[in-house]
Amino acid sequence: MSYCVSINGTSHQVDADADTPLLWVLRDCLGLTGTKFGCGIGICGACTVHLDGQVARSCTVALSAVGKARVNTIESLSPDRSHRLQQAWIAEQVPQCGYCQSGMLMAAAALLKENPKPSDADIDATMTNLCRCGTYNRIRRAIKRAAGMSVAEQA
Ligand code: FES
Ligand code: FES
Repeated sequence: MSYCVSINGTSHQVDADADTPLLWVLRDCLGLTGTKFGCGIGICGACTVHLDGQVARSCTVALSAVGKARVNTIESLSPDRSHRLQQAWIAEQVPQCGYCQSGMLMAAAALLKENPKPSDADIDATMTNLCRCGTYNRIRRAIKRAAGMSVAEQA
């Protein structure tokens, strides 16, 4: 089957089976390899993208279910690492192995859109992505830095 999907603001014609996970469409059909495969069952969040601005785990979204939704991947955050979250991630030296981090950044971007000044509890409740390296404390600090929160607000 052939599907027209909107990825990072561009329409793409994709020839693949209806049940092909969006993750494989991104990585294998379109070469957008920033989105990672972790568990494949919707648990880890390594494959997080945005569908119409909402977080979605692309390993669990079938190509046929994407429809007219706008898909945004980590490649759309900025062309040159200038997004405030990318800058904060660099400043706080968040990544360890890095594998989970594109999914973390996409989850954090959606969080800040909904909640510009999140507390630790807000972050913990919303950011359900898993990091095997345990970078959670640095992720919290980076989100607050990106949110422009003062030291007092960050405590
Ligand atoms: S690879 Fe999609 S949630 Fe783990
Ligand atoms: S930085 Fe290694 S899994 Fe998160």
